[in-house]
Amino acid sequence: MLETASALISPPLPVVWPRFEQPLSLGIMASGNGSNLEAIAHSIERGELHARIGVVIYNNPGAGVAERASRLGLPAVLLNHRHYPSREALDHDIVQTLQAHGVDWVIMAGWMRCVTAVLIDAFAGQILNIHPSLLPSFPGLRAVDQALAAGVKVAGCTVHHVELAVDSGPAIMQAAVPLEPSDTPPTLQARIQVQEHRIYPAAIALAALENVN
Ligand code: GAR
Repeated sequence: MLETASALISPPLPVVWPRFEQPLSLGIMASGNGSNLEAIAHSIERGELHARIGVVIYNNPGAGVAERASRLGLPAVLLNHRHYPSREALDHDIVQTLQAHGVDWVIMAGWMRCVTAVLIDAFAGQILNIHPSLLPSFPGLRAVDQALAAGVKVAGCTVHHVELAVDSGPAIMQAAVPLEPSDTPPTLQARIQVQEHRIYPAAIALAALENVN
């Protein structure tokens, strides 16, 4: 009898979560709904991820993430990219905001803007992103649509270090999501998000652990 694919490809989470000298200080960057922000916040509340969320930065007025941040009691700062003359100017204010809130790890959770060396150099090696594909497959926009259009049998998500090229940088953790014949973009996206919420807190802990060792 074949084992189910999902049992083989879903990475185990820590049995004992690492403790750091100080809780990690996270700055979350988000553009949309904010479900990954909420998953990270709940992991912290459960005593798993040893961290605090110093600030949530979002770029779209009215984005769901702002409401979630408010419900979670987290400071949220709107930096609307439409009001900046360049990507660098926006990133300059992002860096200032993160530093003003004592952030040491930058966590992109549905941040849908390209970032520049201004941000990457200020937080070298300490910026993570989550993307809804098994990178390096399907970088960029509409990754779930891309996977469906390509006819893959297994989709998934990746947490990775951020480098200048979009959705590049070494992977920290991935989870695979087998396709079902009836899948549509929303059904596949929903199953991928279940895995995103599982692995992102663990990947943050793993990245921080690798940083201190
Ligand atoms: C997530 O699925 C994340 O992987 C994706 O945006 C979604 C945000 O969801 N990010 C990207 O596509 C980045 N290239 P959320 O706002 O509910 O956390």
